[in-house]
Amino acid sequence: MTGARDLLAFVSSAVRQPAVIGAIAPSGRALSDLLASVAPVEGPATVVELGPGTGVVSSALHRRIGPQVRHIAVELDPGMVSHLRRTQPWLEVVQGDAIHLEELLTDLGVTQADAVVSGLPWTLFPAAAQNGIIEQVVKVLAPGAQFTTFAYSHVTRMGSQRRFRALLERSFDEVRVTPTVWRNLPPALAYQCRKTA
Ligand SMILES: C[S@@+](CC[C@H](N)C(=O)[O-])C[C@H]1O[C@@H](n2cnc3c(N)ncnc32)[C@H](O)[C@@H]1O
Repeated sequence: MTGARDLLAFVSSAVRQPAVIGAIAPSGRALSDLLASVAPVEGPATVVELGPGTGVVSSALHRRIGPQVRHIAVELDPGMVSHLRRTQPWLEVVQGDAIHLEELLTDLGVTQADAVVSGLPWTLFPAAAQNGIIEQVVKVLAPGAQFTTFAYSHVTRMGSQRRFRALLERSFDEVRVTPTVWRNLPPALAYQCRKTA
């Protein structure tokens, strides 16, 4: 369950920057575990998280992965970055924009990711930003590795979500849509996308 400190950090960032946060509450445990499920359990491997926010998905990843798996989180909002550094000291947090993912990872000596897990608010992004970030994800993903992100179930038929889904279908070799996680506020599903080569 989300802690009071997490909720406070989330609400204060959401009020400051509604166009960057794009959610009414952090993901619940069931959705966070579903997102984390694409990460390898054993290393050596690198897992990259985009838009960790208060860190609920970071915690799910931490529960899943072993000590040989490097876990890097890219977060734009400085308030969230400070919160994560305080509450999840084991997490490697980089303040930056996911549109520069390849460069951010190169600066850390990382050339490939074995999973990319996103909490980014895609529907708030213009098409150019969606395309640019997905292009970066495809570039850094190792062959066979998975990218996952979530969408609120009630908006999947809206134009912007349909465009985003089409972008995923164009960019990856496989796109799997999970069943809806009803125990989330609001209910959400995940896209699990694989690049085979
Ligand atoms: C909806 S919150 C997701 C939080 C958490 N993963 C969850 O599921 O509850 C979205 C997060 O993405 C961050 N964000 C938005 N645009 C970003 C970008 N271009 N690069 C990196 N992080 C970004 C926001 O600051 C925010 O913390």
